[in-house]
Parts: sequence; structure tokens; C-alpha cells
Amino acid sequence: MAVKVVVGSQWGDEGKAKIVDYLTEEADIVVRFQGGANAGHTVVIGQEKFIFHLIPTGIIHPDKICVIGNGVVLDPAILLEEKENLRRKGITVEGRLLISQNAHLVMPYHKLLDRAKEESKAERKIGTTGRGIGPCYADKAARVGIRAADLLDEGLFREKLIQNIREKNEILAKIYGWETIDGEKVFREYRRFSERLRPFITDTSVFLHQAIKQGRSVLFEGAQGTLLDMDQGTYPFVTSSNTIAGSACTGSGIGPTQIDEVIGVAKAYTSRVGNGPFPTELKDAAGERIRELGQEYGATTGRPRRCGWFDAVVVRLASRVNGLTSLAVTRLDVLDSFPTINICTAYRYKGEVIEDMPADPKSLSQCEPVYETWNGWMCPTSETRSLKQLPEAARAYLQRIAELTQTRISIVSVGPSREQTIQL
Ligand code: GDP
Ligand code: IMO
Ligand code: MG
Repeated sequence: MAVKVVVGSQWGDEGKAKIVDYLTEEADIVVRFQGGANAGHTVVIGQEKFIFHLIPTGIIHPDKICVIGNGVVLDPAILLEEKENLRRKGITVEGRLLISQNAHLVMPYHKLLDRAKEESKAERKIGTTGRGIGPCYADKAARVGIRAADLLDEGLFREKLIQNIREKNEILAKIYGWETIDGEKVFREYRRFSERLRPFITDTSVFLHQAIKQGRSVLFEGAQGTLLDMDQGTYPFVTSSNTIAGSACTGSGIGPTQIDEVIGVAKAYTSRVGNGPFPTELKDAAGERIRELGQEYGATTGRPRRCGWFDAVVVRLASRVNGLTSLAVTRLDVLDSFPTINICTAYRYKGEVIEDMPADPKSLSQCEPVYETWNGWMCPTSETRSLKQLPEAARAYLQRIAELTQTRISIVSVGPSREQTIQL
């Protein structure tokens, strides 16, 4: 009987899905509350690998209910494809998947605008996933978005669509010189989606409220990471949603007093996809080695991830803005063969040592990491199943991470599968 939120503590891809899958055993309901199909969440079970973009990873467990909250931006085409892929693997979602009536829909013009905006930037490209996330959230804030419930009212849907298409076509043609969109085609496509999505659309805030009142356990599955949060992250090199734990409330319609635990997931090193400052990035052989050993390639776009040492400034920030009750440290095994390992404890900025991250990207890009060097353990950890079995140097490394981030470690992950998990 608990409500737990799992969030990314770095720049995404920390292994949130693996940790959520592990914790789902004790949960009744798994909820996505922000982001959209920009997320790529990987769960490995035996020989089978699942990659989720929209459906909560809890769907793999046959008896769990999954909720897509109002804070998510929903691309119907991707959701239905995901549902179909699951069906082929013998997993059905009927009766177990609930979609908030207030979730905003990603429309074809959002994806075009996402790409057009990126291509038009000479410098300072964000390196988005091209999934229409920014433009969809922009429409939400501008109060012209189309929501899941609108799909169920043909007249209203048509009216909102026509208004949007008229405006977006002007922008696409006149500002970017791109091709325009055929509104009738979009209308017909989304009519078909509406028939298929109708059974899932409901008031998920009421559902969650009642579930919590009945003592059912709810697990919130964050997407992206704290440093990609549009308020607390490395703006403007962020995503367009709030990725932090507070967003579990606004993105699902529960109150902050209902949350019992907030678990931050952090890799034993750091990675980032897309552009923006990254103080501990390794542009040398060590960075390449982490990428190859860790197979650090994006689950959504396949792009190589930028890799670097663990940055305690980043995870300290995450601990603060999420109110973390504990950390789950993943991918410890990737560091098994490094004779020495660096941890960034602070930054050197204009000759001074600073413990907290500067707000603007220009200053952050001028920060030099202050490193402590630790001995590696130089032996495999992927078969270890308890803290005691871990080599002493690995335990010391983890202890130092906990000290520097001022956060207790509750879970250590030593491989992609469920069994490769150490509960502390
Ligand atoms: P998410 O977006 O935070 O859910 O993370 P991704 O799924 O994008 O990327 C994490 C990758 O690391 C996936 O391929 C996982 O299967 C894998 N993974 C998770 N935990 C571990 C671990 O402890 N060790 C190793 N080697 N891989 C892991
Ligand atoms: P998960 O949930 C890593 C990054 C993109 C880009 C920036 C903005 O798998 O951890 P967007 O398409 O959101 O407008 O892109 O955010 N990004 C992610 N990086 N993991 C993710 O999700 C990401 N979702 C978005 O690479 O830099
Ligand atoms: Mg990912």
C-alpha cells in the first residue's frame, strides 16, 4: 500500500523502465504522467526485449492496470502500433489500459513543426526526437490543443482541427516554406483512431483517487530526466514537459500528500542524447569505451548517446528538486573493467569551485568538472545479487555516490534483466 514515483536523475535513459519493471511486482497500477513518444523505455525479460514509448511498462505484468495520465502527449498512431506489437507477443491491453480524457493529442502538424523548427536553426539545435513533443505542449499552453475526449465528439473535433490546420498550414508554408497538410485526410485518419481508442478513454484522476483510497499501490513511471525538465533542467536544451516528481501530481490528478516515496534513477556514470552542455562528457577513448560496453544508443532514435563520468552536481540537483527519498543506481556492471573511475564532485567556474549548477547554458558549458579518482574493481558484477557479494571497491564507489548526493541508495542494478538487481 504505497504510492511511489520513479524519475530520471540525469538526462534520461537512466534505466527507469528496468527499475519500474522491478518495482511493479509490488504495485497494482502503473502510471505515465508526462512526456510522450520521445521516451524509449526498455525492459528485458529472458530473451525478450520490449521498448515502450507511451504505454507504461507495467503492461508486461498480466494482472496490472496501466494509466496514461493527462500530462502525457499522446500520439494515437504510435500508441496503436505499440498495442499491436504487444498483442503479437501475447499481451493484451483491453480492460487494463486507461487513457486520460484530458491527455493532449500529438497531431501530424506537431511532428512537421518539430522538424521544421529544428531544421531552421543554424546553431543551437536542440536535437529533438522529432516526435512533435514541443509543438504539442506549446498548443496545450496556448489553449488550442486537441484532447483525447475531443476525439469522442466528431463535431467538436472537426471544428478544433480545422482551426488548427488553418493556422499551422500558414506557419508551415510562410515561415518555413514547407508543404502544407490536408485537413480532410487528418480528419479521416483520426476518426479511425477515435473508434479504436474510445474504450480506453476515461477520467483517470477519479480512477486513481479511488484506487489510492482503497489502499492499492500505485507506481508512477517518469520519462526523460531531471536535467531535461523545462524548469529545473538545462534550458533550452530540455524537453517541453516537467519531468520531475511534482509533475506526477499535475500530470495525473492526484495530490502531493498522496506520494510516499520518490526514487531517482541514476546511471553509475552519465549519458545524454541530443545537444546541450554536459560537463563530464568524455570525448576520448574512455567515453567510447563506456558507449560500446554499455551499448549506449538511443531506444527511440538509435542515436549514439554522449557518455561521461558520474556527475554528483547533477544528481544532487535531482535529489533536491525531486525530494528524492532514495536512489536506484543502474549500470554498475558497465564500469567493471575500468582500472580507475572518476566522480565529479563540483565544478570549477571562472577560477572558483562551485557545488551547484549555474542556470544558463553558457556558464554551464564553461564549467570544468572537479574530479575525485577511485580505484575500479576490475571484476564482473553482473552475477552479484547482494551488497555483500559486490567487490569492495564497488561498494566504496556506491557509498561515495550516496555521500556526495546526500541520498540513500535503495537499489543497485548490475544488468538489464529483473534478476540483476540488488535491493539494499
Ligand atoms: P529509460 O529510458 O530510463 O527507461 O532507459 P532506456 O531503456 O532508454 O535505456 C536503459 C538501457 O540500459 C536499456 O537498454 C536497459 O535494458 C539497460 N539497462 C538497465 N539497467 C541496466 C544495468 O544495470 N546494466 C546494464 N548493462 N544495462 C542496463
Ligand atoms: P527517456 O524517457 C533521453 C531529449 C532529446 C533532446 C531533448 C528534446 O527514454 O529517458 P524532445 O523530442 O523531447 O523535444 O527532445 O530531449 N530526450 C531524451 N533523451 N531520453 C529520453 O527519454 C528523451 N526524451 C527526449 O534527445 O535532446
Ligand atoms: Mg530511454
